[in-house]
Amino acid sequence: MKNLFEFAEAFFRQVDVEEKLALTHRAWQTYIDGELTITSERPVLPIDRVTFPDKPVLLAPRQMPRRKLTTPDGVAAFFHAIAHVEFVAIYLAWDILYRFRAMPEQFYQDWLRVADEEAQHFALIRAHMLTMQIDYGDLPAHSGLWDHAKDTADDLPGRLAMVPRCMEARGLDVTPGLIEKFRALGDDASVAILTRILEDEVGHVELGSYWFKFVCEQQGFEVEAKYRDLIDQYYIGGKPKGPFNRELRKIAGFSDAEIDWLEC
Ligand SMILES: [Fe+2]
Ligand SMILES: [Fe+2]
Repeated sequence: MKNLFEFAEAFFRQVDVEEKLALTHRAWQTYIDGELTITSERPVLPIDRVTFPDKPVLLAPRQMPRRKLTTPDGVAAFFHAIAHVEFVAIYLAWDILYRFRAMPEQFYQDWLRVADEEAQHFALIRAHMLTMQIDYGDLPAHSGLWDHAKDTADDLPGRLAMVPRCMEARGLDVTPGLIEKFRALGDDASVAILTRILEDEVGHVELGSYWFKFVCEQQGFEVEAKYRDLIDQYYIGGKPKGPFNRELRKIAGFSDAEIDWLEC
């Protein structure tokens, strides 16, 4: 297989988690080797054709059990939740590059690299969980993450606003505090993994900002006004709740005006 969109469809069809990771790494390696083709005459499959493994069982956010980092079970449940975020993030990277065609080649390269990094994040967390005698799928997971993809399946500015510039950006706000908590608990392994993930995630949000500005300019929208409109349109409950990490968000391409609007 040498075509990016065939790789994407194979990823979406595949039900085995290990195979999904392997396909993602193989696609990126094929790109590195200069052998990946990124044009296709085949129609884009509807988003409801994307399949998820049978496990974890997906629950509405309010049905999810609460977890405390002060107990071993709580830490295991926390990492299970993070594993699920990373697992869905692999899908989200594949889906943005699969669904939105006729973008510059750099767009496909960027999101394929993100898919590969998300697969690495997932594998890191999964290996960490296995040391706690828990595997991905052993607990229920949050069903809401993929909804943003379904809501924006026909709207590239909406996808970029809601996924990298909203959902992933929340990671920049909350992860530094989590790293401090694990540091205080003396859990160096968790600190190392979360630090590595945070560094990559700043890059993912930055790509989201870059491509958001690109499509706004291409489609004649004013960037900051369009961002506000899209959050109003797609974010259930008004706006994401802070506190927001201004320093990391600015590195990742948010303007002060955008952060001020989120905060008010
Ligand atoms: Fe990630
Ligand atoms: Fe990410």
